[in-house]
Amino acid sequence: MSLVDQLQTLKNKAFSDIQQAVSTQALEEIRVEFLGKKGLLTEVLKGMATLDVAQRPLIGQAANEIKTEIQALYQERVTGLQRQERDARLREEAVDVSLPGHGTDLGLRHPLNQVLLEVTAIFQNLGFSVQEGPDVESDYYNFEALNIPKDHPARDMHDTFYLKNGDVLRTHTSPVQIRTMTQQTPPIRIIVPGKVYRCDTDVTHSPMFHQVEGLYVDKDVTFSQLKGTLSHFLKTFFGKDKKVRFRPSYFPFTEPSTEVDVECVKCEGHGCNVCKRSGWLEILGAGMVNRKVFDSVGYDPDQVTGFAFGLGIERLAMLKFGIPDIRFFYENDKRFLGQFGCVPKALTGEIK
Ligand code: DAH
Repeated sequence: MSLVDQLQTLKNKAFSDIQQAVSTQALEEIRVEFLGKKGLLTEVLKGMATLDVAQRPLIGQAANEIKTEIQALYQERVTGLQRQERDARLREEAVDVSLPGHGTDLGLRHPLNQVLLEVTAIFQNLGFSVQEGPDVESDYYNFEALNIPKDHPARDMHDTFYLKNGDVLRTHTSPVQIRTMTQQTPPIRIIVPGKVYRCDTDVTHSPMFHQVEGLYVDKDVTFSQLKGTLSHFLKTFFGKDKKVRFRPSYFPFTEPSTEVDVECVKCEGHGCNVCKRSGWLEILGAGMVNRKVFDSVGYDPDQVTGFAFGLGIERLAMLKFGIPDIRFFYENDKRFLGQFGCVPKALTGEIK
């Protein structure tokens, strides 16, 4: 085949390949195959060596023309294919803005915090203010100053975590009574929310749990004020038609002492598994501040009187929400926590 024919064949083949190429990548491969340094056109032109000197320029010119034509067609196809590929990509990556979104989980207040806020709000509305104290306490504040001396049998009620230096993880929030009374003068009206620690664990006990302590000290504070205040609290928290009762009890730091019960939230006093068939639920301990406690903070027991109380937040939350096992509170299982979606009453302005 003559060189001219070879060039013509090459051109035809290149044209048809370029026309049929389906991607810019395939097109690039065709360009290299025909026009590249070691491509087919170069190959054909090697045959020029065998030609007459006079013919060479003619063939050279024809080869250049073919090269230009192939390049032009190539360029045209590249532009077309690039546009097609971009359109395909845009179609593929298109976002359907009408599809429903994935949504983000809304955080909810932990049930213990809901109860804590509610209790706090009830007492704040009565003029109590919030006071806090340290988790690591001295033996003096946790026991001694509260009329619980070393050999006192009441220490058995506290499975205490002792530190090497003799300090303790506070077993109740009552030491904050002492701290506050030594730093302030009456009238004192405080509540003390906080963590407390006891070496005890089962479905209703946890080594760490939460208490709220209350203390009211002034001239002429009476036991009827204690009853009125705590009845108001329990009826606001559990419902105003719930019965409340006060039983005599004993705490070293109060005299007289009382335990306060509310009518069972489940059986309304008929007796069930929650109230151990008694119809009543024990909610808090309370009493008139013992004269010996006033002695230890330097108050004159003939000048001031007061009442104090203490309650457990976990117990309140378990009763309020019907939670059977205290450990659920600390496992942070969203399936559990998600069930307590209510906005605390304290935040809705419902508690007046
Ligand atoms: N500190 C007691 C306890 O942890 C609870 C308590 C009872 C606190 C009577 C008081 C009180 O302030 O008056 O069991």
